[in-house]
Amino acid sequence: MKILGISGSVKRPSRTLHIVERIVAAIGQTADVEADLIDLADAAPVLFRALRADQLDEAGRAIIDAVEAADVLVVGSPVYRASYTGALKHLFDLVDFRALQGRRVILAATGGTPLHGLMLEHQFRPLFGFFGAVTVPTTVYAVEADFTEYTLSNPAVEARIARAVADLFDLLPATALAAGETHPTLRVVARETVAN
Ligand SMILES: Cc1cc2nc3c(=O)[nH]c(=O)nc-3n(C[C@H](O)[C@H](O)[C@H](O)COP(=O)(O)O)c2cc1C
Repeated sequence: MKILGISGSVKRPSRTLHIVERIVAAIGQTADVEADLIDLADAAPVLFRALRADQLDEAGRAIIDAVEAADVLVVGSPVYRASYTGALKHLFDLVDFRALQGRRVILAATGGTPLHGLMLEHQFRPLFGFFGAVTVPTTVYAVEADFTEYTLSNPAVEARIARAVADLFDLLPATALAAGETHPTLRVVARETVAN
């Protein structure tokens, strides 16, 4: 099973990157997975060389291919201007609209204020609804005060991570958990709908 973490922060150090890494690591503790990470602090300058998918160069295409090939996405963003970052939106604008159908997605965000935690429900979840992806019910939101030196230090957020990962496994077909296997529905359904 291929897990791909995507951090939408465009700077380092990054609380969002840390949270995404923590979630990916928590999944890896429960199942045999192949884990990878896209950090937009590196990837955004590559992706912005293209304004459309047909303009992607080899490096940009490899990033988008990794997104389209993942069985499970862990997508995190800092809240910027009450939404997810423009860099993250650009990445998803380059993803084929059929490619993520049925894929499982864990959503995470970090922000300066707890008041913007619902960005996850009002902005972030609908993006994956567009793709026909299956977002897990539990989201992970942390504010700056939940970190010490960019490392998560609030047990309540750690508990949310554990719950989100438990949700994910509830939503995965049993065969997807077998070592090295990818459940066909996670991959093939999107291709079949192309003809419709
Ligand atoms: C350009 C910019 C816009 C921001 N807008 C918001 C916002 O609207 N709401 C909020 O709660 N925090 C906002 N923040 C704070 C960041 O979301 C917060 O510091 C976040 O944890 C940064 O994540 P990072 O460490 O992964 O970059 C903003 C920060 C920046 C740089």
